[in-house]
Amino acid sequence: MTRNNVIGLDKQLPWHYSEDLRRFKKRTLNSCVVMGRLTWESMGSKALPNRRNIVISRFGVEGAEHHRSIEQALSTCLNEHVWIIGGGQIYRAALDYLTILDITYVPDVINDGNAIRFPNIDDQIWQASEPQNLDHSELVNIIYTRRPEHPPKSFT
Ligand SMILES: NC(=O)c1ccc[n+]([C@@H]2O[C@H](COP(=O)([O-])OP(=O)(O)OC[C@H]3O[C@@H](n4cnc5c(N)ncnc54)[C@H](OP(=O)(O)O)[C@@H]3O)[C@@H](O)[C@H]2O)c1
Repeated sequence: MTRNNVIGLDKQLPWHYSEDLRRFKKRTLNSCVVMGRLTWESMGSKALPNRRNIVISRFGVEGAEHHRSIEQALSTCLNEHVWIIGGGQIYRAALDYLTILDITYVPDVINDGNAIRFPNIDDQIWQASEPQNLDHSELVNIIYTRRPEHPPKSFT
């Protein structure tokens, strides 16, 4: 996301950085990835290979495993490593259940009022790692972990 939390614009990712995509792939391979219906459609309604793809929609989705709520989806993944991969509505709905946020900041500046944003990251709840540059690029990765006094909410 950008420094002002923009993650999407006009139903797309407003940038393309191969370092970011490489990291995303490495982190999510062989895990379960959970996404909103609009993110699914923005990927051409095609599953990411070598991952269990789950789409969240109140109405259902053709051609994909889908659930009608985050809670329902998460309760089918109890023994799996799960990554919530967007978009804005789903990040917002899932934030209280998450244990880490693995965020890459891009240098782009986007001030469009219609942009989709990541929710505010409250530093009372989340402890930020030291920023790391990604593959010597301008991209900066920060991993946020929950402070022990703010455990994740139970979804069951
Ligand atoms: N930079 C990033 O990390 C990143 C990652 C992913 C996506 N994106 C971008 O984010 C944008 C899409 O995000 P978005 O917020 O517009 O949409 P989204 O979160 O991908 O999907 C929204 C849809 O998910 C379903 N949904 C949302 N909350 C729900 C809930 N609590 N219970 C049940 N279903 C729920 C609804 O589907 P139904 O209408 O079918 O019920 C809703 O229309 C795009 O621009 C995309 O490129 C960015």
